[in-house]
Amino acid sequence: MKKTLGIGFIGSGFITKFHIQSFIAVRDANVLGVWSPNHTHAEEAAGLARSLRVGDCQAFQSIEDMVASPDIDALWLCGPNHKRIENLEAIVKALKSGKGSLVGLAVEKPLARNVAEAKRVIELIEETGLLHGYLEDQLFEPGVVRGREILWRRAAALTGRPYLARCAEEHSGPHMPWFWQGELGGGGVLNDMMCHSVEVARLLLTDPTKPRNSIKPVKVSATIASLKWSRPEYADILQQTMGKEVDYRKRPSEDFARATIQYIDDAGNPLISEVTTSWSFVGAGLRLSSELLGPEYSLSINSLNTSLNLFISRRVQGDAGEDLVEKQNAEMGLMPVVANETAEYGYEGENRYFVNCFLDGKQPEVSCYDGLEVTELLMTAYMSAEQERTIEFRPKDLDSFVPAVARGTWNPRA
Ligand SMILES: NC(=O)c1ccc[n+]([C@@H]2O[C@H](COP(=O)([O-])OP(=O)(O)OC[C@H]3O[C@@H](n4cnc5c(N)ncnc54)[C@H](O)[C@@H]3O)[C@@H](O)[C@H]2O)c1
Repeated sequence: MKKTLGIGFIGSGFITKFHIQSFIAVRDANVLGVWSPNHTHAEEAAGLARSLRVGDCQAFQSIEDMVASPDIDALWLCGPNHKRIENLEAIVKALKSGKGSLVGLAVEKPLARNVAEAKRVIELIEETGLLHGYLEDQLFEPGVVRGREILWRRAAALTGRPYLARCAEEHSGPHMPWFWQGELGGGGVLNDMMCHSVEVARLLLTDPTKPRNSIKPVKVSATIASLKWSRPEYADILQQTMGKEVDYRKRPSEDFARATIQYIDDAGNPLISEVTTSWSFVGAGLRLSSELLGPEYSLSINSLNTSLNLFISRRVQGDAGEDLVEKQNAEMGLMPVVANETAEYGYEGENRYFVNCFLDGKQPEVSCYDGLEVTELLMTAYMSAEQERTIEFRPKDLDSFVPAVARGTWNPRA
């Protein structure tokens, strides 16, 4: 195996740029390729990688060409949710025609839009026979990693395991039209962001010395709502900024979702994960919060409790931007700044982990099977919200279930 992993990106949007930025802090990897249907955007992302000196990166004309390149050892799949399967099919086709020498694939969250698609993703990945990783950055947030390690080692070992995890991700809404369209995203904020909170809560509740399946989900109850963006005045604003196909008077997606997932551990102890996500939060910017509670201890993380705070007076009336914090809502007043977002949100730790696994020829512990399990929990949450009742996990009919939001038939006022 090579000593340095050559990485190619599929997609050249928001998340690809975040990843590229994070590679500044990852050894033994070079970002060498980007493919996106818009070649100019792919060129831009490749230029960003070169300017950051994270690799002599080039924009490829097709997925097939990128797979075939002897420089590319692994692909990071960062296209939109509705193109995940199409992208994987192109990879499988290229590999089957004898092209390339890939060792691994890393797939962005959510793995897919529903369980049937997630199973197809797994099928395609298994066909490749490659190592695979599920890109869930928040599992690698330094606060989550360090806090979990200390509490389990120091406090849980002496006084008993934790029993309750609360995780939330909130901001004022995503940056591209496809996220807002239920059919393309696979749902609204539940599918887009609860995937993070479900995984962080599960990780915090899992004994670090035991496997993932040492805690098992038993029941799910959830609520979804459209609190802000289907109000007529906000539906109009959304359409003006995102385009005519985003019509929240007729086809809204949920901008709020909460779920309670009840787990049971291998000793029969009940555990609870409370997760909540929204696109209707207006604060300084993206707010990630996590709590873990045990019999004699607790942990809390809030990404907006930053050590760097800036005050900018009303006379500073510059352009709107996202240079202080992701999904920033203001440019003046007392503003928190996340000084190194790629580290704080977990991208650096995540990419370091997957690069090392792929270079060592080791199957990552955070795999696409985890992405499938998360999809199963999210779809059960949609089912619960639609039926307004607690659902035992794993419900029958889960494999064929598609949320009403994704079918375009959801009426939040019904
Ligand atoms: N881990 C995180 O916190 C996080 C944050 C944002 C997005 N994401 C995930 O990353 C993925 C991309 O999101 P984004 O925010 O970068 O979206 P984006 O819309 O900013 O970028 C998507 C990119 O995909 C490209 N694209 C369009 N059609 C394509 C196709 N057929 N095949 C491949 N690429 C195609 C677009 O040109 C664009 O470059 C999504 O699955 C999203 O859920 C994860």
